[in-house]
Amino acid sequence: MGNIFDSHAHYDDEKFETDRREILDGLFSDKVCGIINCGCDLKSSLMSVELANEYEGIYAAVGVHPHEAEDVADEDFSEIIKLLDKKKVVAIGEIGLDFHYDFSPREKQIEMFERQVKLSKELDIPIIVHDREAHEETYKILRKYQPKGVVHCFSGSVELAKETVKMGMYIGLGGAVTFKNAVKPVEVAAFTPMEKILLETDAPYMSPVPMRGKRCTSDMIEYTALKIAEIKNLDYETVVNTACQNTKELFGI
Ligand code: NI
Repeated sequence: MGNIFDSHAHYDDEKFETDRREILDGLFSDKVCGIINCGCDLKSSLMSVELANEYEGIYAAVGVHPHEAEDVADEDFSEIIKLLDKKKVVAIGEIGLDFHYDFSPREKQIEMFERQVKLSKELDIPIIVHDREAHEETYKILRKYQPKGVVHCFSGSVELAKETVKMGMYIGLGGAVTFKNAVKPVEVAAFTPMEKILLETDAPYMSPVPMRGKRCTSDMIEYTALKIAEIKNLDYETVVNTACQNTKELFGI
């Protein structure tokens, strides 16, 4: 087993349909020690819990993704909440706002996000936040409730990273820091103290350079970590080990 902890992945995705077990067995026997599998709706939340039951190194997050905010029925939402009692369910996620795709109406997204943030405070459980082109509205809610958690695939400015860290939240960094045109993610990686960084993939998406175009798997965090090590002038092992420790600390693992 390795020392890479992937704080954000989707192994329930249909892109892993034919070889899910083969891939996961391979990862855990090689470079990866832990994975948090994030739910987006009831089906994927259930599957996250199933994967967590099956694999020692997998933990589950359950919740309603902004894309699904409009379509999740009340009964489904109740079922998702019930899953929070299951063992190895460590967070509500992924939740947030996506004003890039706008797959659900913005009012619906905001309502569903706020509902889940509120719940995380009541239950004292961390959240995994998706904020795409919706910084203003996302942070309005984060400022109001001051939850614990991580802003995944952080895409804001250094100023926003500063505020996030000050609130006590973590910054999730993935493949985007390796992209050729990456400016903000590189600045954010340089600014953010290593103690506040979580490593992630968003597998099967967001493969880092030089694996662009390939299906992303958690071992590819190696490239992201190497890039962060270079940016922060740290060694690779320090980056991976500290991020692993941070992930365990935040999610109580
Ligand atoms: Ni995701």
